[in-house]
Amino acid sequence: MATTTAPEDAPSAAKGAKGEAKRKQSNWRGGGGGGGGRGDGGQGQKRKRKEVFVYGNYRNYYGYRIDRNVDEDPRLKIFKREWFESKDCLDIGCNQGLVTIGLAAKFKCQSILGVDIDSGLIETANWNLRRMSRLDKVVVENTKAHKSSDSPSESCPEKVAPEISNGDISNGSHHDIFKVVSFRRENFVDSMCTSSEQYDTIVCLSVTKWIHLNWGDDGIITLFVKIWRLLRPGGVFIMEPQPWTSYRRNRLVSEVAKENFNTILIHPDKFREILLDKIGFRSVEVVTDKLEGAVTGFDRPIEVYHKVMGTGSSS
Ligand SMILES: C[S@@+](CC[C@H](N)C(=O)[O-])C[C@H]1O[C@@H](n2cnc3c(N)ncnc32)[C@H](O)[C@@H]1O
Repeated sequence: MATTTAPEDAPSAAKGAKGEAKRKQSNWRGGGGGGGGRGDGGQGQKRKRKEVFVYGNYRNYYGYRIDRNVDEDPRLKIFKREWFESKDCLDIGCNQGLVTIGLAAKFKCQSILGVDIDSGLIETANWNLRRMSRLDKVVVENTKAHKSSDSPSESCPEKVAPEISNGDISNGSHHDIFKVVSFRRENFVDSMCTSSEQYDTIVCLSVTKWIHLNWGDDGIITLFVKIWRLLRPGGVFIMEPQPWTSYRRNRLVSEVAKENFNTILIHPDKFREILLDKIGFRSVEVVTDKLEGAVTGFDRPIEVYHKVMGTGSSS
């Protein structure tokens, strides 16, 4: 899977997290360094402005995290079917929704909701979903046509949209992705959860650093407690935490991030202890230490936490 640029008719991507009004942070920083005194006839004043994604709300995330030569997000290859099949799932920080849609298509979730703080990304995710749903129908039509004719079809789905190749959409069994997947703009650490909202599987991939830099240790604890509350007993929490070494690179995205970086006490190597000893998860499985097909720097371990039956809310 590779989506390096938004397709031409995709909604125009907003630069920052449009929906996030409470914590106004600039998504733009003057770039070009130094500035002034270059005597270049005014050209120097036209400083390039560098786009800064304060929540990790990148527009072209999958373009640089996934090797061009692989056919699906490497994380989908190592996930177990039993975590998703016929389950109600939640994907926190879903970005453009490609992993969310991929999980639904490959593993046949009962339902999956993708939430992201950035309304522009949610728009793109919905656009991807509509596109995938149309494609899904083309596959079903083609499968029917193939059964009644030997001629090769021109509208082979792999040729139509190679960039959305997460999951097996060509097995001919009709699973209406549009009814299964939904997206919602939400700041997960700030929103209230209703008592009726419960999931069997919660996925949080490469999001912890952004929550940590923007909301500090309190944000991380809120994230974990909320995930625990939203999970049904017997459910799983799948997390891909970024290592502490990668925080340094992003600590200057905003003043808030800089301040939090300097005051964070709970480093990511403590997450496991907190989830097991304080939050209430009973066991952890480290699924992989090496993700094949991931670009260097993205081959992070993925941890799966189990909430056993008969365990209630954490205090
Ligand atoms: C680095 S991307 C990871 C995308 C995706 N989970 C994946 O691994 O393919 C981090 C995503 O988390 C989202 N995000 C950051 N803070 C969030 C919050 N408080 N609530 C919801 N989404 C958030 C960002 O907008 C961004 O899309």
